[in-house]
Amino acid sequence: MAKQEDVFKKVISHAKEYGFIFPSSEIYDGLSAVYDYGQNGAELKNNIKQYWWKAMVQLNENIVGIDSAILMHPTTWKASGHVDAFNDPLIDNKDSKKRFRADVLVEDYCLKIEEKEKKEIEKAAKRFGESFDKDQFVATNPKVLEYKTKREAILSRLARSLENEDLADVKALIEELEIADPDTGSKNWTEVRQFNLMFGTKLGASADSAMDLYLRPETAQGIFVNFLNVQKTSRHKLPFGIAQIGKAFRNEIVARQFIFRMREFEQMEMQFFVAPGTELEFYEQWKQKRLNWHLALGLGDDNYRFHDHEKLAHYANAAADIEFNFPFGFKELEGIHSRTDFDLKAHEEFSGRKLQIFDPERNENYVPYVVETSVGLDRLFLALFSHCLRDETLEDGSERTVLSLPPALAPIKAAILPLMKKDGLAEYAEQIFNDLKYDFNLFYEEKDAIGKRYRRQDAIGTPYCITIDHDSLTNHTVTIRDRDTMQQERVPVSELRRIIDEKTSFRNLLAKI
Ligand code: GAP
Repeated sequence: MAKQEDVFKKVISHAKEYGFIFPSSEIYDGLSAVYDYGQNGAELKNNIKQYWWKAMVQLNENIVGIDSAILMHPTTWKASGHVDAFNDPLIDNKDSKKRFRADVLVEDYCLKIEEKEKKEIEKAAKRFGESFDKDQFVATNPKVLEYKTKREAILSRLARSLENEDLADVKALIEELEIADPDTGSKNWTEVRQFNLMFGTKLGASADSAMDLYLRPETAQGIFVNFLNVQKTSRHKLPFGIAQIGKAFRNEIVARQFIFRMREFEQMEMQFFVAPGTELEFYEQWKQKRLNWHLALGLGDDNYRFHDHEKLAHYANAAADIEFNFPFGFKELEGIHSRTDFDLKAHEEFSGRKLQIFDPERNENYVPYVVETSVGLDRLFLALFSHCLRDETLEDGSERTVLSLPPALAPIKAAILPLMKKDGLAEYAEQIFNDLKYDFNLFYEEKDAIGKRYRRQDAIGTPYCITIDHDSLTNHTVTIRDRDTMQQERVPVSELRRIIDEKTSFRNLLAKI
């Protein structure tokens, strides 16, 4: 089995074993691609949200945050284009009866070619040793060039066919490339069809008066329909932004890869309203700002890359993804889109209300243009969790599993651990706990050997373990153990608040952006 698959399996089992993520309604065998966050998962998720919200709303005086409803007037989705165009191309395998996303089958085929390219480069790096010039090799090696050209030709044909709604050509491409059902090897495919991803529901008590609604497939439209409400009440001038965190729902055709592609998920989106003609400048700025926000998490600069879109969504004049190196390869983590005035204009048209502002500098009314940043909260969770989870062999040959989350995001900031329950240690530990609990999310535990308790805290990413022993009772000092270095230090109890705050405060993260 590939190493990456092992890593991913470990991520999934660790997330469950340590109370981060459970399959939804598991006692009924779960619901495909729907997950529940457990006690530690909910804390980590809330901390990620705080990091995003503070970076958007608190650090930018021209961005405000809202919380709009999941259910919206159905015309919203007609105006936004989702009723007509929020589709994925699906294809069924006639033998296995399994359903696939046609574009993903082709993209996976191209990923395999990319793997071959990488292998050629690795082989050459080994052969040439220190004198290896990767850039030159990639630019001149005939095999690598052949793979690259083939891959690019396939992807641009796919993009063209999808853009032109030429689904017959997508099928032709699958057949020409002899792509088979990955599980059964069968190449017996149906035609490619479009499938709308929105979940429908009903509003109202009686069947005849009920109104057909959709669960929102993105949070962005809640921002667009409130654009003027917020602008008027906040009195912001362009450029200004509206941020929102909330649930979105998509009936994904193929929902694999754990919380990477879910049917119910959370988005953190920000729409930045700008004067027409300035949108591409702001688009470039936000691309860089958002990348910096990710880099500050310290997961390694090489694990991020931009992917500029060839096929643009119906609303965009420029778009890029920030991709992260997940255990299954580089995949989209965040989208940055220059959405033009498409959405606001469409809502003007469908609602009959003006969604314009007066620009005193240009002395005219206009519909603003919009640059959007949209990151999946669950994908960010997965990026952090999978990157930070590792097994270590210690000097004494023993093993430990540690989740080295950025301390500000850790579910628990410090564990308060009396060495034993008796002799007044528990009472003193409780006193420390009660003093610090107003500032930090803490964990208290008396049971088991101290080594075992340390390991459990390492596994959920707790930055500090604080041990109370007999000396603590007399000299009011405790041992504080660092999760990453495992170094232990004796410190006065009166210093604990400062030490924990210095390590776990959001300031540390936000200052790096
Ligand atoms: N408002 C723009 C928009 O929704 P998108 O690229 O479709 O754009 C934005 O989605 C982000 O939402 C993605 O980059 C991804 O992180 C997250 N996302 C999209 N579909 C998802 C799904 N099925 N499961 C988890 N996250 C998803």
